[in-house]
Amino acid sequence: MREDVRPGAVRPGVGAAYGRTSSGSFPEAFGAGADWERASRPRDRPPRESASMPHPYVLLSAAVSLDGYLDDTGPERLLLSSPADFDRVDEVRASVDAILVGAGTIRADNPRLLVNSPQRRAARVAAGRAEYPLKVAVSASGELDPRARFWHTGGEKVLCTTDEGARRARKAGIAADVVSLGTALDWGALLEHLHDVRGVRRLMVEGGGTVHTQLLQQELADEMQLVLAPLFVGDPRAPRLFGPGAYQGGRLRLVETRAIEDVVLMRYEPTAPGTADRVVPADRHWLRLACELAAQCPPSRTAFSVGAVVVAADGTELARGHSREAGDPAAHAEEAALAKVDPADPRLAGATVYSSLEPCARRSSRPRPCARLILDAGVRRVVTAWREPDTFVEDADGAGVLTAGGVKVVVVPEFEEAAKGPNRHLLGREGVEEG
Ligand SMILES: NC(=O)c1ccc[n+]([C@@H]2O[C@H](COP(=O)([O-])OP(=O)(O)OC[C@H]3O[C@@H](n4cnc5c(N)ncnc54)[C@H](OP(=O)(O)O)[C@@H]3O)[C@@H](O)[C@H]2O)c1
Repeated sequence: MREDVRPGAVRPGVGAAYGRTSSGSFPEAFGAGADWERASRPRDRPPRESASMPHPYVLLSAAVSLDGYLDDTGPERLLLSSPADFDRVDEVRASVDAILVGAGTIRADNPRLLVNSPQRRAARVAAGRAEYPLKVAVSASGELDPRARFWHTGGEKVLCTTDEGARRARKAGIAADVVSLGTALDWGALLEHLHDVRGVRRLMVEGGGTVHTQLLQQELADEMQLVLAPLFVGDPRAPRLFGPGAYQGGRLRLVETRAIEDVVLMRYEPTAPGTADRVVPADRHWLRLACELAAQCPPSRTAFSVGAVVVAADGTELARGHSREAGDPAAHAEEAALAKVDPADPRLAGATVYSSLEPCARRSSRPRPCARLILDAGVRRVVTAWREPDTFVEDADGAGVLTAGGVKVVVVPEFEEAAKGPNRHLLGREGVEEG
């Protein structure tokens, strides 16, 4: 129970919440009064919810013709952007920790991939960063020209490749740090490497189509910056931006459009939730929104402020809600959101509920706690930022209830502080009166 306070429900004499974290540790002993929800709690093992692995923020950047091509088939690189847009790209490059391209782009374009503006480079140095972003090349074969400009311009370079590719690249004398990621290259492992070993927090991906397609289809892209150029290629042999395959079902979110001379920049974000315990960039967006909704709740001294969003598998927002919505002092966020969805809506079965705080397992103000409402709605995935502390009730375990009911619960701890933000005044309290 997170908002309704019953006398005796508060854990007495304990100042801090017990140490449940995403990696999980439960207290050994529980208080009295187990009920059906608590009976389902995994008492002697870590919680079964999952946590996400850290990746850099991945920004895909490309320019396309009106008929969707990245290039033509001529020997020279087709210039799609306008001068002012090349300058914008330079600015984006200056803002990131690393720029990645596929081997096909190195072979076709022989690019340098530099920050061209001396002022931007100076600003990077003044900020304590490397003058140039790390340059990352991706190749399975390792068949790369050691004379390519990519290896001889800018700052540090790394080639991410396979065992076989590494052997070839080293033999060819590629002037880069050659990293083998095994017999085949896995994008998740590559991103983890860049994050953990290279310290990359923002990654700009500059193509080509094979690379963009995989990152988008594997739901590893946070954002797409697409420039539409007012010309046609008209040659089916030319490379397209996105190849065939499985993409997210629904519509992406348009976050910006900008006319730059005669081209238009469009920025899109994916919207489709991850599946099971896999956290994708869209999950972070929706959880961030839930935390923003929590901040909009009417303040209370006797209840948490929580935000919730229900999102269909194709990324369509079905409903949102927050605590004490519409003047109802007992309203819970998940309850308020689910009440706006037709219970017969078939999309509920594939939906994800995002809640800034773990859904409640017990409450006195309504017959069904939010964990039960979620189970009854048929939703099979919940993503939350914060396990419920003992502020109002001891050992509330909505995640356990949900998990026992077959729901995958995922905790994304990077949003815990945002979820706590509107509730600071409640934390550390040892007890409250029923309000
Ligand atoms: N308009 C624009 O904004 C823009 C930007 C960039 C590029 N382009 C154009 O795009 C074209 C090149 O695109 P592209 O699709 O042919 O090539 P690409 O995406 O640049 O590179 C593909 C290559 O990357 C490596 N690779 C990709 N995925 C991999 C994986 N999962 N594991 C291991 N290696 C992997 C492979 O290298 P190996 O073959 O070495 O194994 C693969 O052949 C060029 O015509 C270029 O001009 C346009």
